[in-house]
Amino acid sequence: MDQIKIIGGSPLHGVVEIGGAKNAALPILAASLLGGGECIIDHVPQVRDLITMAKLLELLGVNVQTEGGRVMLEASHVQSIEAPYDLVKTMRASILALGPLLTRLGEAKVSLPGGCAIGTRPVNLHLKGLAMMGAEVQVDHGYIHAKARRLKGARIDLDFPTVTGTENLIMAACLAEGTTSLHHVAREPEIADLCAFLTKRGAKILGAGTDTITIEGVSELHGAKHEVMPDRVEAGTFVMAGAITGGDITVKGCVTDHLGNVFTKIQEMGVELTENSDGNGVRVRCSAPLKAVEVKTLPYPGFPTDLQAQMMALMSVAEGTSILTETIFEGRFLHVPELHRMGASIEIDGPHAVVKGTASLTGAEVMASDLRASAGLVLAGLAAEGETTVSRVYHLDRGYERLEEKFGTLGAQVQRVREVV
Ligand code: EPZ
Repeated sequence: MDQIKIIGGSPLHGVVEIGGAKNAALPILAASLLGGGECIIDHVPQVRDLITMAKLLELLGVNVQTEGGRVMLEASHVQSIEAPYDLVKTMRASILALGPLLTRLGEAKVSLPGGCAIGTRPVNLHLKGLAMMGAEVQVDHGYIHAKARRLKGARIDLDFPTVTGTENLIMAACLAEGTTSLHHVAREPEIADLCAFLTKRGAKILGAGTDTITIEGVSELHGAKHEVMPDRVEAGTFVMAGAITGGDITVKGCVTDHLGNVFTKIQEMGVELTENSDGNGVRVRCSAPLKAVEVKTLPYPGFPTDLQAQMMALMSVAEGTSILTETIFEGRFLHVPELHRMGASIEIDGPHAVVKGTASLTGAEVMASDLRASAGLVLAGLAAEGETTVSRVYHLDRGYERLEEKFGTLGAQVQRVREVV
C-alpha cells in the first residue's frame, strides 16, 4: 500500500484549481441507469470511487467510455438488476443503483452496504421511502431485494435528511406513476446538481436545494450533457491547508457559497479569506497563530461532517481550547488517536472532541482510516515539525485526485512512496 511522506513547516503559496465533486458525480453517473440516450458528463474527478461506479454500471449493462474527466454513458440495454457484494463492499455509494434500477426495470437486488470506519450507516430510510412508493422490499442473505411493477408517487417525510437516501428517492420518483413529494430532505448542493442533470434529461422536478422536493413521474428520460459542480470538500480542505501552514494561497474553481459556514468558522480562527468577485474562488492568508473555535457538524448548510477531521487538525495547533461536536456519524473520530501520535491534545467525550491547541505538532508515522480522516492527517503533517508518513493512502485516493501533486505545486514537501510489493 502506498504511503505519503510529508516534511512539515513550509507555508503554502500559489494557486490550486478544484476538481469536480465526487459526491455529485456518483449519483449523476448512477442516474444514467434511468434511461437510454447518450449522457456526457464532464468535470468528473478521476478518483477510485468513480472508477468503481463505472465498473458497477458496466456490470449492469451500461456502455461506459471514459476520456480523462469526461464520462460517456449509454444505458439503453441495462440487462442486470444486481449490484454484487464484492463491488458494493468497496464503495457504499453503490446503493445509488437501487432507486434507478427499481424504477427502470421493476426490480433491483443490491448488496446491503456494510458499515464502515465512520459508523453503522444504515439504509433503512432509503428502503422505507421505496416501500411507501409501492415497492416490495426484502432484506436477506445480505441483499436488498426490491420489486415493483411500477412505483407510485407518494408523500414521503424523511426522519433524517439522508443525502444518498434523498438521491435514491428522487431518482426512483422520476419514472414513478404520478407525483412524489419528498419532505425534510437533504439540501446538500450535490443534490441540486443531480436534479439539474435529471431535469436536462426530461425529469420534472421542483424544489431542488430546498427541504421539499416534488417530482412528477414521466414515462422515460433521454440523454443529456452535464458538467459536475466543483468539489466543496476538496476546496475546504485546501483552504484549511493554507490556514494551517500560515501561507497565502488562492483556491480557484470552487463555489464559495457552498462553504459559507466553513468560511465563517475559519475567519473566526483569525484567517483572512478574500472571495473572488465572481464567487468561484477565495484567497487564504494566515500570518498570525490560529485561535480556538467551537464547531458542530450539521446537515447542509451547517458545517459539513466531511470537513470535520480537517478542522480538528487546525484546532490542534490553535491557541486555546476548541470544541468539535460530530452530530452526523457516531464513529467519525478515528483520526484522533493518530493526531495524538503527532502530539495533539484531544479528549473525546461522546460526540464531543475537546481540543487543547499546542504550539506545534511533531511528525510521526500515522495510519489513515477513512477518506476524510486521511485528509486531516495530511493537513496535520503539513504543519508538524519533521517528517510524517501517512499509510493506507488508498483511502485518500477514493476521493482526492492527485492530492500530493496539488500540494506540491503550492510548495509543500510531499511525496508519494509506492509500496514495493
Ligand atoms: C453522504 O453519505 C456522503 N457520501 C458522505 O460523504 C457524507 O459524509 C454524508 O452524506 C453526510 O453528509 C456520498 O454522497 C456518496 P447520510 P450518506 O445518509 O448519504 C443516518 C465522503 O467522505 N442514516 O446522509 O451515506 C446515517 O447513519 C462521504 O465523501 C440513517 O439512519 O450519508 C448517518 O448517521 C463519507 N438511515 C446520517 O444518517 C438511512 O437510511 C447521515 O447519513 C440513511 C442514513
